[in-house]
Amino acid sequence: MTDKDYVAFIEKIKRKSGIDLSLYKETQMKRRLKSLYEKKGFQSFQEFFLAMEKDKCLYNLFLDRMTINVSEFFRNYQRWNILEKKLLPRLLNGKKHIKVWSAACSTGEEPYTIAMILAQNSLLEASYILATDIDEQAIKTAQIGIYPERALKEVPLEYKTNYFQQEGSFYHVKEDIKRSVTFRKHNLLSDRFETDFDLIVCRNVLIYFTESAKKELYEKFSKSLRRNGILFVGSTEQIFTPEKYGLKTIETFFYTRL
Ligand SMILES: C[S@@+](CC[C@H](N)C(=O)[O-])C[C@H]1O[C@@H](n2cnc3c(N)ncnc32)[C@H](O)[C@@H]1O
Repeated sequence: MTDKDYVAFIEKIKRKSGIDLSLYKETQMKRRLKSLYEKKGFQSFQEFFLAMEKDKCLYNLFLDRMTINVSEFFRNYQRWNILEKKLLPRLLNGKKHIKVWSAACSTGEEPYTIAMILAQNSLLEASYILATDIDEQAIKTAQIGIYPERALKEVPLEYKTNYFQQEGSFYHVKEDIKRSVTFRKHNLLSDRFETDFDLIVCRNVLIYFTESAKKELYEKFSKSLRRNGILFVGSTEQIFTPEKYGLKTIETFFYTRL
């Protein structure tokens, strides 16, 4: 189908949901959504949208397809190890608490990883962890806090023992860890950002956005950090000119606010 078809779809989705698909990389997003509507027997974005207006389940399927919720605890373990051993002491600088934001937290593995690291270092009680995502369904799953074994592939044994309860083939995140995270629905591309964060973790979502949307986000993340605060991005999401945003590389995939 023509681009006009997709452009009109973008407009209608924006009006319906507030989600601006034009800020996501076009080829990828179009391919993902087209394969969904074709599977459901539609011929165009136009037809797909009309059907969605009448069928809430189809709309939910659309939301599920456009948000990619894959996550894991301690995803790219080496990075988390650097955060815990090298950067956390620097962030604290004598303090006993930090303010953290897990942005695009998906089903909770990432904010719970942060909570576990803080608990392991006796910092959890006084710290604040905000976890946000655009996808309400993912947030609900996060709040339940039950995961299959595959989500725990990279979890060190000590953490597994201390912070999970195994029940059959599932792992339940312990209550004190669950309680320490504040979940909220939030659209990175349109909602207001809180400020004064010591640490912002935003991983594996920037890759889906257009270059100009990414630049705007770097700017906003930088403003949301306190001085010397740290931005932690995903392993394919290096910022090439961090100084443009008042940031400086301190380790690969970690930037500090100047
Ligand atoms: C691949 S997951 C990343 C999860 C986690 N950060 C990690 O690295 O394991 C991407 C998440 O980004 C969320 N997302 C997509 N667009 C978003 C937006 N505009 N604002 C907030 N979250 C968004 C999706 O709902 C999804 O849960």
